[in-house]
Amino acid sequence: PHLSVRRVLPALAVLCSGQGTNLQAILDATRSGRLRARVALVISDRKDAKALTRARRAGVTARFMDPRGHPTRASYERTLIRLCEAHRVRLICLAGFMRILSPVFVHRFRHRILNIHPALLPAFPGSHAIRNTLRWGAKVTGVTVHLVDEHVDHGPIILQEALAIRPGETEASVLARIHRLEHRLYPKAIGLVLSGKVRVRGRRVTRTP
Ligand code: GAR
Repeated sequence: PHLSVRRVLPALAVLCSGQGTNLQAILDATRSGRLRARVALVISDRKDAKALTRARRAGVTARFMDPRGHPTRASYERTLIRLCEAHRVRLICLAGFMRILSPVFVHRFRHRILNIHPALLPAFPGSHAIRNTLRWGAKVTGVTVHLVDEHVDHGPIILQEALAIRPGETEASVLARIHRLEHRLYPKAIGLVLSGKVRVRGRRVTRTP
C-alpha cells in the first residue's frame, strides 16, 4: 500500500512559552518543503501563549501543559515523554520554552533536543539575553542553535551566526534583527540534524559530507 508523505516525514515537537515566531518559521519551512519534516505536536506551559494559536491555525496538535497541574517536575516530564512517544517524535525543538528540563528528560532524548538562544553562547545565557548583551556594551551578538544537555543554554553548538550591534540600537531593534536570523537558522539546523549528517563528539559538532 501507498504510504502517505505525511507519515514518512520525521515528526517534530516544538515547545514554546510565548509568541511562537520561531515555531511559525518552522511551520512555514515545513509547509514550503525547505524543511523535510512535520510539526506533530506543539506544547506550551502557558495557556495564553500565541504559539498555541499559531499551531492550531496550522492544524497541528497543540497542548497547554499546566505546570501547576503536576505535583513534581518529574511527573510533568513523564507526561511530556508520553506525548512525544505517542506522536513518534524524532526531534524536540525548544523555541522560547521557559522551563528547565531535568537530566532524566535530557538523557531520554539524548542529542534529540535542540534549543535556540538569542546570543553567541557561552556569552549571555539565560533569559533576557538581548537586554544583558546591550547592558554589557557588547558590539557583536548573534544566534546559537545547540543540542540540549543537562545545563541551561550549554550543549554542543550546531549553528551560530553573528550580528553587529549598531550605535544607538535599542532592545527592540536588536530583537527584530535577532528574530530574522533565528527564523532562518532554526529550520536550517533542524534539517541538518535530521539529515543524519552531523556527528557529535564531546562538544564538537561536525558535518559529514
Ligand atoms: C527566542 O528569541 C529565543 O531565542 C529565546 O526566546 C525567544 C522566543 O521567541 N530563547 C531563549 O532566550 C532561551 N534561553 P518566539 O516565541 O517568538 O519564538
